[in-house]
Amino acid sequence: MDDITDYSFRELCKEFGADLLITEFIASEALNRDAEKSIRKMRFSNNQRPIGIQIFGADEDELLCCLDVVEQAEPDFIDINWGCPVRKVAGRGAGSGILQDVPKMLRITTSIVKKATLPVTVKTRIAYSSDSMVVTDFAEALQDTGISALSIHGRTKTQMYSGNAEWTLIGQVKSNPRIHIPIFGNGDIVCASQAVESKRRYGVDGILIGRGAIGNPWIFEQCQRAFAGEPEREISVAERVDVCRRHLQMAIDFKGERTAIFEMRKHYGNYFRGLYNFKPFRQALVATPTAEATYAVLDRIKEHYI
Ligand SMILES: Cc1cc2nc3c(=O)[nH]c(=O)nc-3n(C[C@H](O)[C@H](O)[C@H](O)COP(=O)(O)O)c2cc1C
Repeated sequence: MDDITDYSFRELCKEFGADLLITEFIASEALNRDAEKSIRKMRFSNNQRPIGIQIFGADEDELLCCLDVVEQAEPDFIDINWGCPVRKVAGRGAGSGILQDVPKMLRITTSIVKKATLPVTVKTRIAYSSDSMVVTDFAEALQDTGISALSIHGRTKTQMYSGNAEWTLIGQVKSNPRIHIPIFGNGDIVCASQAVESKRRYGVDGILIGRGAIGNPWIFEQCQRAFAGEPEREISVAERVDVCRRHLQMAIDFKGERTAIFEMRKHYGNYFRGLYNFKPFRQALVATPTAEATYAVLDRIKEHYI
């Protein structure tokens, strides 16, 4: 997820049991221009393997051209984002915008698979809109492009993030006897029991967790435990503070204090979700301009709740 699953957060997701990681999406044009921020988004530790670098774009030449620099970073696979609905991406035919032109999506995907030496996977949505071609109609053709796995978010482009993810269609793709590549389901999984239930009900090969992981890298551990038939582990406030502190420290080391302080604000609400009367602490966390002041607030949280 953009500005969320950066290097530092992925380290924690891996530590807490994520099986597979994917970078934030990275614009092919920016990679071809050698834009520093985009090149940095491709960095990962060996610890984070298996990892995919996710690319997006609307222009076939740009997408093909960026493969060289992506492959130089040596990820385990390359993931194409045909799912992002935001206007500045989809509006120009990238992300889920391409679902308005499925033949173009198939053509570009075929070219990418042909040129890439690494496995290529695709992340997409169930359709562009409720009256356009749905994933059950084009999943086989996508498979025929030579991709190694397909991830499906159960919403249309026009739904953006509203309503509920429609897992029935994901299940139908998975149960198509002609589909042999792994199918990963995605959408609205925020706890381990939902992950277990969705896997059981829809038979998918794996589950992608997005928003449910924000400020909650433990969700992967809880899923691993649930799949192994073990009970949830209670995460203490002390552990939450310590992991949040490590997250901030790694983010600062990786992208500098200013950016790290700003981006970490997206995680605090979930790190400390459910704590009684947390509002003043939360307000302090999102207002502090320096690392030092943030660490001081984290210390106060620990003292207050333990
Ligand atoms: C802030 C934000 C950024 C996202 N960035 C990406 C991205 O870069 N690449 C991607 O494939 N999906 C991205 N997504 C979509 C999520 O990966 C996921 O498909 C979607 O949120 C539904 O799953 P969830 O309910 O588990 O969050 C993003 C979502 C959010 C909320």
